[in-house]
Amino acid sequence: MRPFSLLASLSGLALAVAAAATPQSLKPREQQAKARPPKCRFALDWTQNQVLANPEGFAWDLLYWEGKFHQDDVAYNTANGMSYDGTQLNWTTGERTLKHPFSAASKEALQIMLYARAIAGSKEAARFLVPDRPSTASSVAASIMQTKLETYLRFNETYPGFGGFLPWMTTSNKDVQPTSDWVNRVPALDNGELLWAVYACIQALESSDNPSFGKLAKGWQTWFDYVKTTAVPVFYRGQGLVCAVTKIKDQGLPVSDAGQHYECETPNYLDDPYEGELFTHFVNLFSKLPKKEKDQLWTVKRKKLVSVEYNMGCVGPITVEQGFWFSSHEPWKVLELPYYDVDIVRRLYHNAERARTCNSAVTKVPGLFASVNNSTDPETDTIIGYISPAGIPSIASQKEQEHDVITPYGAWPTMMFDKAVGLAWWHNMVTAKKMQNPYGSTESTRVDGKLVSALVTWDSKVTTVVSLLGGVGDLVRDKLKKDRKYDEFVSVTNREYSRVFKKLKGEKIQLCLPRARVPEAGLEDFSSCK
Ligand SMILES: *[C@@H]1O[C@H](CO)[C@@H](O)[C@H](O)[C@H]1NC(C)=O
Ligand SMILES: *[C@@H]1O[C@H](CO)[C@@H](O)[C@H](O)[C@H]1NC(C)=O
Ligand SMILES: *[C@@H]1O[C@H](CO)[C@@H](O)[C@H](O)[C@H]1NC(C)=O
Ligand SMILES: *[C@@H]1O[C@H](CO)[C@@H](O)[C@H](O)[C@H]1NC(C)=O
Repeated sequence: MRPFSLLASLSGLALAVAAAATPQSLKPREQQAKARPPKCRFALDWTQNQVLANPEGFAWDLLYWEGKFHQDDVAYNTANGMSYDGTQLNWTTGERTLKHPFSAASKEALQIMLYARAIAGSKEAARFLVPDRPSTASSVAASIMQTKLETYLRFNETYPGFGGFLPWMTTSNKDVQPTSDWVNRVPALDNGELLWAVYACIQALESSDNPSFGKLAKGWQTWFDYVKTTAVPVFYRGQGLVCAVTKIKDQGLPVSDAGQHYECETPNYLDDPYEGELFTHFVNLFSKLPKKEKDQLWTVKRKKLVSVEYNMGCVGPITVEQGFWFSSHEPWKVLELPYYDVDIVRRLYHNAERARTCNSAVTKVPGLFASVNNSTDPETDTIIGYISPAGIPSIASQKEQEHDVITPYGAWPTMMFDKAVGLAWWHNMVTAKKMQNPYGSTESTRVDGKLVSALVTWDSKVTTVVSLLGGVGDLVRDKLKKDRKYDEFVSVTNREYSRVFKKLKGEKIQLCLPRARVPEAGLEDFSSCK
């Protein structure tokens, strides 16, 4: 059975069971949409048991409030259709203060996945985008995609050296430009995320019954076909090696110009089995590299695909894919490509969620770990830093980690397997002080409840939203089939994972629920989120 239909049927069951308990779930959704909106601080009105009994109802409130992030000048710029990284919040009120006027291909990917689902008719995406007029969601999304395409094409005209790919960029002016630290540089990983989001969106546009979407689909297809031709010259260095970051000789010169030149910035290659793999699949499926070199793309990656066992005395052993940190950022690729069509991957990633949830449960951590922005220093109103090393050291290659901060988005990979349990974790984290604000959930909280990160970003919010929408793997699957690439995707993925993973331990272990709360430590909720 496909994971998507499995999820749908499970949550349908939960909804039916819960209907008797919670009157609001009895109403049809469109009616609900017009009904009184949920309170900003809605999570406090739900117990964990209520979330478990009615995950769809809870998600409906979540989507409404996360959707408040999707506003001009907060999450994106209506003038050019481009995302903004995020916005800081006033420590007392929770109102927006300092906007981050920049973005990157990874945030674009989240934005475009969301629009792909809206265009494909998702009621949940409509709830997020335009809760008051859900029937307009697909045209709202398509219209932003039109503006965005024009911006991408202008960017390509001005900076043809990027070959259509995107660096970190300033998005607050109509014409975007590389941020000062990304002049003449471009990362592969984020662009891999972007490529498959665009691919999914083209599929949604093509299969829509709205005739006016056809032209937009063609426009994006032209962009996608163009990057198929530039991926190798910009990022590929031979013998299966892809640059993690490419240094461009002159971003103003076309890719094929005699004076243009590309090299890897450092001998750091894109060889991770996590998010970076999205780019590898793209090169494998769509570039014109000879077969031998396509095979090398995978052989150079093999050393990092490692089987380890989670073992915590009372829980385990559970066979999992070794993480880098085992942060919830790492499985991002499953939002985009239909990885769960491959049996061994789906089972292995289900195991990852057993380890992720049970590790926090048995160690009495009130939430889940993932790379995330550190707390705000309320004295100076600045974010203290970024905590990359956050996950589960015993099943990660990187053992030095920091475990003072948890983040709601840590729960999105769990939601891919069990919405109810994933939402129970999300709920447990956002019930902490200041963890809801006028734009939905807050970035992160300290486990001791002493500080939060007064910030809202695509990464920490919309990963969860896209996960609740089921990712875009089904759209990508359909288009891969049309393009006659699906069998190759499945066979390569199966080949690589089956080499390393044969028998999995721990598949009967249940996902764990939170067993601890973030303590009260003197913080007060944001005054504008009651
Ligand atoms: C936060 O909002 C309060 C109330 O409007 C205001 O007094 C305070 O100066 C704001 N703080 C910052 C850092 O903007
Ligand atoms: C990007 O710019 C190049 C060089 O000017 C051009 O050949 C190509 O067609 C452009 N790509 C798209 C998608 O317009
Ligand atoms: C943390 O901050 C950076 C920079 O503002 C942003 O790009 C990122 O999305 C934020 N959150 C996470 C979870 O990475
Ligand atoms: C995160 O913030 C805490 C203070 O709240 C500080 O002790 C810690 O060093 C910071 N870590 C990083 C990586 O910024």
